[in-house]
Amino acid sequence: MILIKVNPFYPEEEKIKVAAKAIRSGNLVAFPTETVYGLGADAFNENAVRKIFEAKNRPADNPLIIHIASIEQFFEIVDTEQAKEIENVANKVWPGPITFVAKKKEGCKIARSATAGLSTVAVRMPAHPVALALIRQSGVPIAAPSANLATKPSATKAEHVFEEFKDKVDVLLDAGNTFYGLESTIIDITRNPPALLRPGPFTVEELERIFGSIEVSEGARGLKTADVPIAPGMKYRHYAPDKPLVLCDKDKIAKAIDDAKNKGLKPILLVSNETASHFNGVDAIALGSEQNMYEIAKNLFDALKRLDKTDADIGIAQTFPERGIGLAIMNRLRKAASVKD
Ligand code: TXA
Ligand code: MG
Repeated sequence: MILIKVNPFYPEEEKIKVAAKAIRSGNLVAFPTETVYGLGADAFNENAVRKIFEAKNRPADNPLIIHIASIEQFFEIVDTEQAKEIENVANKVWPGPITFVAKKKEGCKIARSATAGLSTVAVRMPAHPVALALIRQSGVPIAAPSANLATKPSATKAEHVFEEFKDKVDVLLDAGNTFYGLESTIIDITRNPPALLRPGPFTVEELERIFGSIEVSEGARGLKTADVPIAPGMKYRHYAPDKPLVLCDKDKIAKAIDDAKNKGLKPILLVSNETASHFNGVDAIALGSEQNMYEIAKNLFDALKRLDKTDADIGIAQTFPERGIGLAIMNRLRKAASVKD
C-alpha cells in the first residue's frame, strides 16, 4: 500500500494525481469523504469494482454508492427524466452528505456489479475537498462503499482503514479525521413521497423542508420490522464490535452495570461526557458532550472500534434523543447492539 498524507482542505495536486492514476489503472484507493472513508474504484471498470467486494468481503447483492464531482456526471448515470426532476434539489444539497437512489440511465457505463444488477443507482457528490479532487482528477465516477470490512464499524480516520486493509488497498489518502463521522443520508427518490433509507448527517427535518414530506420507516430508524422497504444492505449485520454491546436508556445504566458484574463480566460505558462523569469509577469511552450531538456522531465509530481493544467484556451504550443527527446515531447504535444480547 502507498500511504499518502494529504491536506484535507487544500489537497496537493501531485498527490491526488498518484491516487487518480491508481483509479484509472483499475486499482483500489481509500479516500476521505466528509462522512467516512470510502474504498474507491473506477465505477465504469467491472474488474476494479469486483476488487472492492473482495477486499471488504461484501455480499455481491449489496450495491455501492457512485461518487461524482459534477452534475454532468449525474446526468451520465441517472435516467434523464429523473435527473431533470431532481436537478434543482441536487444543486442545492450537493456537494454534501446525502445520497439519492434514482432510476439508472439505460445503457449507462456503470459496472453491473456496482449496482448489484438493480435498475436503480445510488449517487452522491461528496463535499470533502480530497474526494472531489480525486474524482475530478480521475475523470470517472468512483464507486465506493465505506472503507471497513463487511459488518464492522465504518472508518473515520486513516488508521482505521490501514488496520483492516493494509494488504488489500493500493493507495490510502490520509487526510485525518472525517468531518461528520457517520455515513451519508440515503433517500429513495424513485418513490413518492421519497423514502428515507438510511438516516445520516443530512437530517429528516432538512429533508422535509426540501421535499414537503418524506417516508421514515421503522427500518430506517434501525428497528427491526418485517415489512420495511430498505436499502439492500440493511438486511446485513452492521457496525458490530466483536464484544457484546448493550444499548439502554440512561436510567437503566446502573442496573446494566450491576447485571454485568453479577455475571462476572467487566463492563465499559460508551456514553456522553455527562453520563460518564455521573458514573465515575466505571471505565468509560466518552463520546462527547450531549450539548453537541455532532461531536457524539463524530466519535461513535471510533468508540465502537476501541471497545474491542479494551480489557472489558461488555460495552454498555446509552440511548440519545432521535432528533436531528440523533436519529442517525441511534440507527447505528441499534444495529451495533442488536445482534448480541
Ligand atoms: O457516506 C457514505 O455514504 C459513505 C461514503 C464513502 O460515501 N459510503 C457508504 O457506502 O456508506 P456503503 O456501501 O457502506 O453504504 C451504502 C448503502 C448500502 O446499505 C447499500 O445497500 C445502499 O447504500 N445502496 C446502494 N445502492 C442502492 C440502491 N440502488 N438502492 C438501495 N440502496 C442502495
Ligand atoms: Mg458501509
